[in-house]
Amino acid sequence: MKYRELYRQAVEMIPLAYAPFSKFKVGAALLGKDGKVYTGVNVENSSFGGTICAERSAFVKAISEGCMEFEAIAVVSSDGEAWPCGICRQFMKEFCEDDFKIITGNDEDSLRVYTMEEILPEGFRL
Ligand code: THU
Repeated sequence: MKYRELYRQAVEMIPLAYAPFSKFKVGAALLGKDGKVYTGVNVENSSFGGTICAERSAFVKAISEGCMEFEAIAVVSSDGEAWPCGICRQFMKEFCEDDFKIITGNDEDSLRVYTMEEILPEGFRL
């Protein structure tokens, strides 16, 4: 699947985000090695620490449906380009190889693509 199409699917998710506190809505589209796309949104909570980011919600959906290997994730916010937070980078590291791709951008004609290794060098795994 082309990264532009994955990015478009992330954009389509933005309205489904639950972000009444930050007003910062995020959509994610995660491409599994099974060829399926697992989408996610950020889901905030009145107890702020209970919030889950869009990236992690996509991973949790995929893993709970039996997909454990991944190729790429597109992430985008209601403000445009959005980079995974530190917690999400570590979460991804658990399931992704160094060549896993992270895609974001302000629009589909200006996508930025980085690898897992680039966004979390020397990442931790037991
Ligand atoms: N957020 C994400 O969904 N992904 C990120 O990588 C950065 C932050 C969400 C969490 C929270 O709901 C809002 O953005 C503001 O931090």
